[in-house]
Amino acid sequence: MHDNKEWEQQAADALKSVARRMEIKAYVEQSPLLYGLLKKAALQYVTGESRIDGLEAGQRLTAKGYAISLEYIGENTVNAEECEAAVLEITALIDDLGKQGESARVSFDLSHIGLMLDTGLAYTNLIKLAARALETELELFISMEESAKTEQILEVYKRAASRYPNIGITLQAHLHRTPDDLAALSASPGRIRIVKGAYQESDEVAIPRSESLNEGYLQLVGQALGDGHRVSVATHDERIIREAIQRGLLTVHGAKLEMLYGIRPELGSKLKSAGYPVQIYLTYGHEWYLYLCHRIAEYPPNLYRAVANMADSQRVDPVEAYE
Ligand code: FDA
Repeated sequence: MHDNKEWEQQAADALKSVARRMEIKAYVEQSPLLYGLLKKAALQYVTGESRIDGLEAGQRLTAKGYAISLEYIGENTVNAEECEAAVLEITALIDDLGKQGESARVSFDLSHIGLMLDTGLAYTNLIKLAARALETELELFISMEESAKTEQILEVYKRAASRYPNIGITLQAHLHRTPDDLAALSASPGRIRIVKGAYQESDEVAIPRSESLNEGYLQLVGQALGDGHRVSVATHDERIIREAIQRGLLTVHGAKLEMLYGIRPELGSKLKSAGYPVQIYLTYGHEWYLYLCHRIAEYPPNLYRAVANMADSQRVDPVEAYE
């Protein structure tokens, strides 16, 4: 058992470093066999490659009583045409969700809509999307990326949020700077999503997974609710969720649990039937490779599931696991 854990951790560490190597990603994309196999594994966490896939899975979850968030996957876009294409796709997603009139939110990375080219472009695109979303009272949510981008992301967010209250922001509990960042957002009315943080960061900037990170996470949730923010408690960590319930944090008006599609659906189902509002975060798009690597690296036993899904002739259907 101990050996297994060590092997899983080594495999996960290796995956974290290959995930960002563009030549490996390109190799996967050019190999129909590898692409097909890994795509089968990705379907545990990604609804599919098209918007219809995301909307259909979202509708099925909504019918089961979950709120949903949808993301068209993509980040680090360095080409203006691709940024424009991403903005068009996100606009279409906003319109489709708006027509359905359901309790849904649209999430994205600012580096998908221009941050890598110019913060001004990311801001302009964000404003366009926020105006469109406001027409149907939809909420937009900005994801948080590596610590090298935190400052820029918060700057763009603060400017935009002062005009559009329907934009929320994600903060990573693992960054040492986050309590100060949260305090500086007390004037911005948007919803705040607290996550642990998915990116590999050095000890100088981040706290590794630990009890002290969990305590820091809970403190941030309390601080954000105390400042009057609506808060999404975005984690699959049962210890944090149990403690948040005990501290009464999840019954404060505006608090919600949020979990990633395909991860611990039994926990999401249990919490929903206990009466807590649960939001499921769904993704779709062609850029699922990095997303798959993150999901396996953060929980190495997922490697076994990935292999099993690759060998299975049936298409995986994570929605079925939600009650
Ligand atoms: P942790 O990783 O410590 O895991 C605790 C337990 O949860 C594990 O022991 C296991 O039981 C379960 N678990 C966690 N991950 C699992 C997995 N992949 N498969 C199966 N079980 C798993 N990050 C970021 O940097 N920027 C962002 O914008 C976002 N956005 C975001 C939105 C939402 C809605 C969620 C839920 C998460 C994010 N994240 C994110 C990811 C986040 O930072 C973090 O990497 C994951 O949520 C995993 O961390 P946990 O809080 O679950 O704890």
